[in-house]
Amino acid sequence: MSRTREEILRDIISDESKVPHYHLPSPLDFDDGRRVENAFEWVNFRRPEILDFYRREVYGYPPPRPDRSWSEIIAVKNNALDNNAIRREIRLHFAMDNGESRFMDMILYIPKNIRYPVPVFLGLCFNGIHTITDEDDVHITELERPGQNKTDENRGCQAYRWQFREAIRRGYASAAVCYHDIFPDRADGWEKSIYGMFYPGIECEKIHCRHSSIGAWAWGLSLALDYLETVPEIDGSRTAVHGHSRLGKTALWAAANDTRFRLVISNDSGCGGAALFKRVFGENVEAIINYMPQWFVAGFEKYSGREAEMPFDQHWLISLLAPRPVCIASASEDWWADPKGEFSAGVHASEVYRLFGVDGLAGENLPPAGQKINGAVSYHLRAGKHDQMPEDWQHYFELADIFLKNRSMLQV
Ligand code: GCU
Repeated sequence: MSRTREEILRDIISDESKVPHYHLPSPLDFDDGRRVENAFEWVNFRRPEILDFYRREVYGYPPPRPDRSWSEIIAVKNNALDNNAIRREIRLHFAMDNGESRFMDMILYIPKNIRYPVPVFLGLCFNGIHTITDEDDVHITELERPGQNKTDENRGCQAYRWQFREAIRRGYASAAVCYHDIFPDRADGWEKSIYGMFYPGIECEKIHCRHSSIGAWAWGLSLALDYLETVPEIDGSRTAVHGHSRLGKTALWAAANDTRFRLVISNDSGCGGAALFKRVFGENVEAIINYMPQWFVAGFEKYSGREAEMPFDQHWLISLLAPRPVCIASASEDWWADPKGEFSAGVHASEVYRLFGVDGLAGENLPPAGQKINGAVSYHLRAGKHDQMPEDWQHYFELADIFLKNRSMLQV
């Protein structure tokens, strides 16, 4: 019998002294006990083993590609953001020969008066693309948004989380899709999601054994990148994928599956994202499954209350990104997402980065709030609450300048 939310929350650990002793399995140990000795063995043998493990046990298998996909530009504004940008609203259509189809709407800002092609930021947003820009003439997508109203009132309410003007000023394109377009974020969102297009008439329970909503959102990011690669003003090989919170979990998983994402940004991704499960600090497996069961494959719930027995932890997920640069960001008051667990996962993933001759993240203790650590595995702790703020973006832009604009050797 599953426990009530109240019971689950009663047992949440928010006191560092209650964190159990735990053992972190090294990503470099093969299932059969052998040890990875070099980057070749990692890339060709161990990485696929871990990726397959995550697909089977955590986020599910990537959905297939649609039989057909095409894009439709539904609006263009050539003098956007005070005439500094071109704004396009694009409907990405997906269709199957079985007659099913879905679409997702992208907002794309491209800087003007600059040499093309430019690098691009890509992320998913929570409440519809009209909510993330301060321009008030973006169309409102008529798709379901669980728990939200699609009105003019929420226009621009999360614009601060996107920093489009600053991206443009610095010479980056920036694109977003609303995650609900891909999988409406509720436990029974399966049929309307992209899975309903691939598996018409199949019960959700069956699909949930092999797939998850995070897997669908990650798929959406890859298909969005397919489109960006076709935009002449954009250099799709210089794409940063980013996400906040559940969408930070998604950004990590998207980049684990799709190595075209060159820079990976996980903002306050917490449990099921960058944070270590085994610390069981803040949100734990039982709490997250109880809150949003669709985020993970059905079998993942076997780890509820059994973090100590997990044969892996989230430093493995981060190690799947090596040697590509990744930034893990936390917020000091975001105890629910466990900043220390997010930082530690970066530290422990670093042994895989070192196989490639690059330094990862060093240290045992969280750096003070406001201090940025740069490198192949970057980190910062922002003072404040669970959110994605301009201060976080300052770090992301700095890293993009290093890894996307100047094309550091790390990316070779
Ligand atoms: C909840 C959930 C987190 C998630 C967050 C979000 O707080 O418990 O796991 O990251 O929502 O996505 O906003």
